[in-house]
Amino acid sequence: MARSPAPPSAVSAPGTATERELAVYDQNSQTLRSLNQLFWQIPVISMSLTGGLWFGVAKAEASPWFQLGLLGLAGVGNVVLVLILHRLRYVMDEYLSWLRQFDTSGFVAAPGKGWLDKPYSVRTALQTMFSLAAAFSFAMMVPSVLDVAKPRTAKARTLAFYDRAAEDLVDRYEALDFGQAHPHLAAKLSGAAPLNILDVGAGSGRDAAAMASLGHHVWAAEPSDRMRGLGRALHGAEEIQWLDASMPKLQAQGLTGRRFDLIVLSAVWMHVPVEDRREALERLSALLTQGGEIYLTLRLGPGDAGRAMYPVTSDELGRLAPLAGLEQRVLGDKPDLLGRKDISWRTVVLTKPAPVSH
Ligand SMILES: C[S@@+](CC[C@H](N)C(=O)[O-])C[C@H]1O[C@@H](n2cnc3c(N)ncnc32)[C@H](O)[C@@H]1O
Repeated sequence: MARSPAPPSAVSAPGTATERELAVYDQNSQTLRSLNQLFWQIPVISMSLTGGLWFGVAKAEASPWFQLGLLGLAGVGNVVLVLILHRLRYVMDEYLSWLRQFDTSGFVAAPGKGWLDKPYSVRTALQTMFSLAAAFSFAMMVPSVLDVAKPRTAKARTLAFYDRAAEDLVDRYEALDFGQAHPHLAAKLSGAAPLNILDVGAGSGRDAAAMASLGHHVWAAEPSDRMRGLGRALHGAEEIQWLDASMPKLQAQGLTGRRFDLIVLSAVWMHVPVEDRREALERLSALLTQGGEIYLTLRLGPGDAGRAMYPVTSDELGRLAPLAGLEQRVLGDKPDLLGRKDISWRTVVLTKPAPVSH
């Protein structure tokens, strides 16, 4: 096994050190100081690493795999720091024992009396802290793994995404202005006689609240429990009937026997699987009054790994619409108001023609 070099006291009597031995003494003292500085940088590294990664975990609610990765990194990082601290303190010990032997009478050993003064108390305290941070990170991975591993249908996965990310998404959705997001609706609804409106996939209730504040009667169908809870809490004062219903079936007690003049699907159609779209359109059409309108915004651009999304085009919708007794009109495209460069939105209106009177 490699040994540290014999200290000069083994060859020189105290006070009779050679020039070379004194130079080595200086060099070793300096190295010990550097090692000590390094030692005290490790808690700072641990705090920045753990704090940064845990903050990332809190912000990445919508991406459980990414959260798992961050937690794993925090756990492994802290274990590595425990080992580094161990090794560093060992090397410092070797230098200390060399210096002690070089000049035993001038060496301040500080052996300590109580539990707290003992050598290694600082190292042990830091290692305990890092180990707790590692254990907490690993423990936090368990619910994430269970959540990720739970077998789910695509729809349940999408709703789990909205439940998990609800707080963050509600803040983002509410930051948008109804008039800016839906100029066609704002123009159609302001000053109009009260209409019965159904907002499907209402999210935070931003649009439902804006339409209710224009004097319309609004029903908000939102299948994510967390989203619906937050939306109801945020827009409780407005006249909105919140419902737990999802496409394609769109079933809820509050919808029984009801017809709507306008149905709004803002940023929702991409969540309906292609094979369910005809059924969904037929159901929407059945909920519509004669002469009523379905207003949709279609997401154009890549999907999102965390929630199930399926490609949408106005061509596909145009082919399906007549099968549900609807006529399509494309109003135009808009950039994404949340600033995502690769995503744009196409606004489409489907009308249920009023019967022709002879
Ligand atoms: C991107 S958000 C849009 C929210 C809101 N309409 C807006 O424009 O701010 C999509 C919403 O659709 C809901 N959703 C997802 N799948 C759905 C389905 N099959 N039927 C109805 N709503 C659905 C989600 O829970 C979520 O609130």
